[in-house]
Amino acid sequence: MSNKKQIRVGLIGTGLMGRIHTNGYKRLADFFPEYEYVPVLQACCSRREANAKAFMERWGYASYETDWRRIIERDDIDAVDICTPNDTHAEIAIAAAKAGKMILCEKPLARTVAEAEGMVKAVEEAGVQNTVWYNYRRIPAVTLAKNIVSSGKLGKIFHYRANFLQDWTINPELPQGGDGLWRLDVDSAGSGVTGDLLAHCIDTAMWLNGGIKDVSAMTETFVKERVHVGSGEKQKVGIDDACIFHCHFENGSLGLFEATRYARGHKALYTLEINGEHASIRWDLHDMNRLEYFDHSDEGKVRGWRSIHITDGDHPYMNRWWIPGTSIGYEHSFIHQVADFFYSLQSGEPCHPTFRDAFETQKVCEAVLDSARDRAWKDTGVEWVEKV
Ligand SMILES: NC(=O)c1ccc[n+]([C@@H]2O[C@H](COP(=O)([O-])OP(=O)(O)OC[C@H]3O[C@@H](n4cnc5c(N)ncnc54)[C@H](O)[C@@H]3O)[C@@H](O)[C@H]2O)c1
Repeated sequence: MSNKKQIRVGLIGTGLMGRIHTNGYKRLADFFPEYEYVPVLQACCSRREANAKAFMERWGYASYETDWRRIIERDDIDAVDICTPNDTHAEIAIAAAKAGKMILCEKPLARTVAEAEGMVKAVEEAGVQNTVWYNYRRIPAVTLAKNIVSSGKLGKIFHYRANFLQDWTINPELPQGGDGLWRLDVDSAGSGVTGDLLAHCIDTAMWLNGGIKDVSAMTETFVKERVHVGSGEKQKVGIDDACIFHCHFENGSLGLFEATRYARGHKALYTLEINGEHASIRWDLHDMNRLEYFDHSDEGKVRGWRSIHITDGDHPYMNRWWIPGTSIGYEHSFIHQVADFFYSLQSGEPCHPTFRDAFETQKVCEAVLDSARDRAWKDTGVEWVEKV
């Protein structure tokens, strides 16, 4: 342990992602013991002192701050982890890059392409290591899907299909804004399901299947007005409650995407399916340790969808965990992202998705919202550089 290189982390935002990232840092040395770099929980930041102190004590941080600017100013912080709502990402990330800190930023990178562009410029000018927490890439079944697609086993890809379905905002009495419901406030979130849910689907899709060229979308806001926690008044709802879009990928395949918070009965049903010339793949977050695979070259009599349990040691990341047949969970995708980020420090390679990769996802999100508003096809302007 003693000859490890220490990266002192300053984590900003102590909500859901603050907890899950911290869990990732805490697990790294136990499960990736040979890695050269280790995180040190140097400081956490929450605006209310009681919360910041309680989080520090519960999760084992060495200190706390109540203003994120202090995290950036401190000389004893090497990496800044941004776990705050979307409206804060750009300001914090740009300040952190200027101070020469490494940055791990939650998704979506920003609210808009313009904000994201400034963030990419800042990290690239500063030359600091950066990554965005599109963690679904690091669920072993999804990583295996990537490996299968990259091997060419599917042949020419015809279709890419993804859904992200939830049901938690159907009640019209739910307010918008404030600490608990910032996702319903367009000023904080930037958009509704497009930035929150579809951004994940778009990141995974471009990683698996290459750039998205153009989009045609529709959005709906089912509840038009909600009380704002800040003003106490009923205000127009500015977010998209549901979004459906279709698109062309650069490789000629067609994409179909849907996200909603109004699919009664579904909590976080992220599914994806890819249909190729020779084979197809299907994955479902609610059954995240399985990958379904259909191979047309199988003998006809036994040909059918295989349900592969992704728990063997030769499956991605799984040699780090338990024994074949035993599962891992959602939190492991974040542990894997921590591991890949720390490995990138010793390999000298970027940790994808970088800010630049996430900027491309941001372009698709914005094209989707523009298309829905204008009822017209929109080019995304995506320049996808990650190898497929
Ligand atoms: N990768 C994923 O799958 C995933 C899942 C959930 C959320 N997210 C993203 O993570 C980010 C945070 O989401 P969350 O679910 O953890 O939200 P959350 O509401 O649970 O937590 C946000 C935290 O940020 C704090 N905060 C807000 N403004 C702050 C400021 N100016 N300074 C310091 N702290 C501040 C809040 O008090 C809260 O503790 C969002 O960008 C969201 O889109 C990503």
